[in-house]
Amino acid sequence: MKVKIHTLFEYLLETTEAQPEAFIGFSLSQSPVLGDFLDDLDPNLSLDWNGRSFRGLPELRAHVLREAGLDGICKPDDVLITAGAAEANYLAICQLLEAGDEIIIEKPGWPQAEVLARAKGANIKVVERREADAWALPLDDLRAAVSSKTKLIFLTNPNNPTGRLLSVQDLKDIAEIARAVGAWLIVDEVYAGLEWNDARAPSIAGLYERGITTGSVSKALGLQGLRTGWMICPDPDLIMDAIILRENSSEIMNILGETLAEIAMRAKRYSAAIEVARADGRKTLEMLDAFIARQPLLSWTPPEAGLIGLARLGGYLNGEEFAKKLLAPPYRTFLLPGSAYEQPNHIRIGAGGGASAQLELGLRRMQTLLETLG
Ligand SMILES: Cc1ncc(COP(=O)(O)O)c(C=O)c1O
Repeated sequence: MKVKIHTLFEYLLETTEAQPEAFIGFSLSQSPVLGDFLDDLDPNLSLDWNGRSFRGLPELRAHVLREAGLDGICKPDDVLITAGAAEANYLAICQLLEAGDEIIIEKPGWPQAEVLARAKGANIKVVERREADAWALPLDDLRAAVSSKTKLIFLTNPNNPTGRLLSVQDLKDIAEIARAVGAWLIVDEVYAGLEWNDARAPSIAGLYERGITTGSVSKALGLQGLRTGWMICPDPDLIMDAIILRENSSEIMNILGETLAEIAMRAKRYSAAIEVARADGRKTLEMLDAFIARQPLLSWTPPEAGLIGLARLGGYLNGEEFAKKLLAPPYRTFLLPGSAYEQPNHIRIGAGGGASAQLELGLRRMQTLLETLG
């Protein structure tokens, strides 16, 4: 299987060297530092693997079920700890899809499923989220797209890049649509935990026997560098297939990632961290929203959850040219162009990263650039 590069990763590779001074694109909460964990770390922790389960530390799997609202609904063995949500998606997609199988993806959406499906030689069908509908997933289009050949549906909730949420009823309807054709259904919840107006949506693993929930500690907790996430699925064969594929790549989880994630997800610590992340996120998103309202060349539907959203550039400006101009001196400010999501007249903006993102500085510089273009 030869995997080809996607525009989003190409842009990141191209721009990492640019050393921006400000970021208007961070999708994660401010990251904690190692020192925050030292009091809870055992200096005698063996750096061998956990030696207890190929599925990951049992305590961590219990935390994952608790936060996904799946206590008593899914079993600890329905959870597999992985190297981020990215590995969870990878393992599930690679084991489920074969050449000629049909997969349904959403656009705009997280490109991983499309990249892997292409490499596998699968047939890709797209359901378009429309800006005029505030980026809602059109369930009638999804219903019309599935067929007896549909092997897999891949969705994000909250959606990357728009922050749009699926409601409880949406999720139940989507499960019905998938069930009608026996399709597997991955709902990537990597941005869950930062819902601005609603409660966290239920996880699909609790609603559908072929539902696969993926998530991680990367976004709401800001712990992206731990490379620790999970897959939850009530189907034991799917979990075992993922373990078998992982045995032939990275074999096991890294012990420091698992251990630190387990500490970070202990109930008291988790709720304190989420409270801080929500307060910070709400404040920065309000600031971003007010900034956009003042710009004649920008408009957006603010995210219902998570720290990122897609903003439209007026005046026929091209998102990629705009992002490159903004990254170059004198602006030195990073954001992702909408071209990473096939939305050429948009930019992806984000309120994450905490103080180190220098968001206000970045916005001032963006305003200056917008004024020169307006
Ligand atoms: C929707 C989505 N899924 C998965 C990932 C990968 O996250 P992780 O760090 O948990 O692998 C990202 C990262 O941006 C994402 O946006």
